[in-house]
Amino acid sequence: MEEMGSAGALAPPEPSGPCADIVIRPSSDADLAAMVAIYEHHIRRGVGDVGEFEEDRLLPDDLRRRRKTMRKKRLPHLVADRNGQVAGYAYAVPFRKRPAYRYTLKHSIYVHPEHLHAGIGRRLLPALIEACAAGGYRQMIGYIDSENAASLRLHEACGFVRVGHLPAVGYKYGRWSDSVMVQCPLGSGSDDQPSTWQKPVEALVAGHDWTGN
Ligand SMILES: CC(C)(COP(=O)(O)OP(=O)(O)OC[C@H]1O[C@@H](n2cnc3c(N)ncnc32)[C@H](O)[C@@H]1OP(=O)(O)O)[C@@H](O)C(=O)NCCC(=O)NCCS
Repeated sequence: MEEMGSAGALAPPEPSGPCADIVIRPSSDADLAAMVAIYEHHIRRGVGDVGEFEEDRLLPDDLRRRRKTMRKKRLPHLVADRNGQVAGYAYAVPFRKRPAYRYTLKHSIYVHPEHLHAGIGRRLLPALIEACAAGGYRQMIGYIDSENAASLRLHEACGFVRVGHLPAVGYKYGRWSDSVMVQCPLGSGSDDQPSTWQKPVEALVAGHDWTGN
């Protein structure tokens, strides 16, 4: 992925070609309903059991609260805007709460069902990586269902490598499912010491705030 590792280049390159109509921008409260609809579509399909899904249902208020928390921590929460429609979204949260893990994030990405396989993931994920690297974070972790070919391909195309295989950690469609753990270094990764002991988010460069603040 050409953008990887260049934490200084904050803005994704100007698009050309089939995805030229996509703008990657911070999400806002106005995007909540669209993001929930995308999430519900994928979770319903992912679990294959409406009963289990209902217990775990994401409500707009949950997402609003989550966005607020992330804004406070200055973590990116991005949408792919295609002609005014939310065509996908992506965000990162701390990998673990304990301070030793403060330079590591885990992330999620969802693309609208009507916009799949159109290159939106390939725009959103590099933008998320750039925003997290710009915040001073050093590693990004993802967990992907081992049968999710699209997500595995997307992550590998964006510089993630497979670092673990977790057998039978999921249960859906009446059977156990495996997860693949993927990891991508951000910026200089583990090549050097973090420049400061302060919260990495404070290193966000003014004028390139992806959190919508
Ligand atoms: C995974 C997901 C985000 C990919 O987004 P997308 O916009 O459809 O992906 P893109 O069109 O940018 O394609 C990215 C790469 O994956 C490949 N790809 C896309 N869909 C694919 C599919 N169904 N099977 C195999 N490869 C696929 C593309 O060819 C492309 O590879 P390339 O860069 O080598 O050409 C999207 O499928 C999605 O939202 N899935 C449901 C939610 C989900 O699984 N999220 C990830 C959880 S870990």
